[in-house]
Amino acid sequence: MTVLETIRSGAERLAAGGVDSPRLESEWLLAHVLGVPRLRLVLEAGRVVTAGETREFAGLVASRATRRPLQHLLGSVSFCGLEFAVNASVLIPRPETELLAERAWQLLLGPPPPWAHRPVVLDFGTGSGCLAVTLAVKCPAAVVHAVDISPDALAVARGNAVRHGVDGRVSFHLGDGFAALPADVRFDLLVGNPPYIPSGEIATLQPEVRDHDPRLALDGGADGLDFYRRIARAAAAWLRPDARVMLEFGDGQGAALRGLFSGGPWRCEGIFPDDSGRERILIAAVARA
Ligand SMILES: C[S@@+](CC[C@H](N)C(=O)[O-])C[C@H]1O[C@@H](n2cnc3c(N)ncnc32)[C@H](O)[C@@H]1O
Repeated sequence: MTVLETIRSGAERLAAGGVDSPRLESEWLLAHVLGVPRLRLVLEAGRVVTAGETREFAGLVASRATRRPLQHLLGSVSFCGLEFAVNASVLIPRPETELLAERAWQLLLGPPPPWAHRPVVLDFGTGSGCLAVTLAVKCPAAVVHAVDISPDALAVARGNAVRHGVDGRVSFHLGDGFAALPADVRFDLLVGNPPYIPSGEIATLQPEVRDHDPRLALDGGADGLDFYRRIARAAAAWLRPDARVMLEFGDGQGAALRGLFSGGPWRCEGIFPDDSGRERILIAAVARA
């Protein structure tokens, strides 16, 4: 079969498996097998695909048709223009989280630069390391700490830090949230995309998420807000003056987040939408006396 025929047959198989964008994903998989950029396939539409390539492609398509995520089959995902290795130990970084990364590096870089010293950043629940590593790459002055309770996720995150040459500036801590951090470190910025799916809703998610993202990365407790309550209770003690907290949260959780980060030690600076207009990011600061 030619490249074009192979793409078509893959797309048919993926459509039968209920995959959302079968043609596009068929192209991604074939490009991966042939080792060429996806857009190059147009130029090679008439090329004959070898028997070995066809076999490998058919295996990937069959796997994807069972709703294994495309990113697991490709082995990596692009986040803020950087390539991150992913596997079944980590949440696949989402486009919404790129908005959080962007707001965070804009804050770190100013203008005006908000801190006279090198800013110290905490990524709470780092997963693939997409936030920690991106911020270290974009902000060469930043010192970054990343915590995760999953040793397998931390191994992926460490690999991604090495891949992007920032392993000397990102410290990884294994354990349960703040308890895993060195006692004397204080942060100028806490970023995080904590697990926020209500436990009872996990069974209703798409198979790619429900069956392949780690449960540890999804389950936010009965109402999805367990981690935000923990952060609202404990984070202020870990922050320096003028520090900020920037958290991603789930659809419909904005009002609860505003409530958790208003009053007491907190001043809510804003809730910001994603590209589809859904409230998605909280920015809060420690209230001044
Ligand atoms: C939703 S994922 C976010 C991963 C990554 N930051 C991203 O945005 O793609 C949440 C992460 O929090 C981690 N996590 C869950 N419980 C934790 C805990 N008690 N302490 C630290 N990390 C935890 C999970 O292992 C998972 O990697």
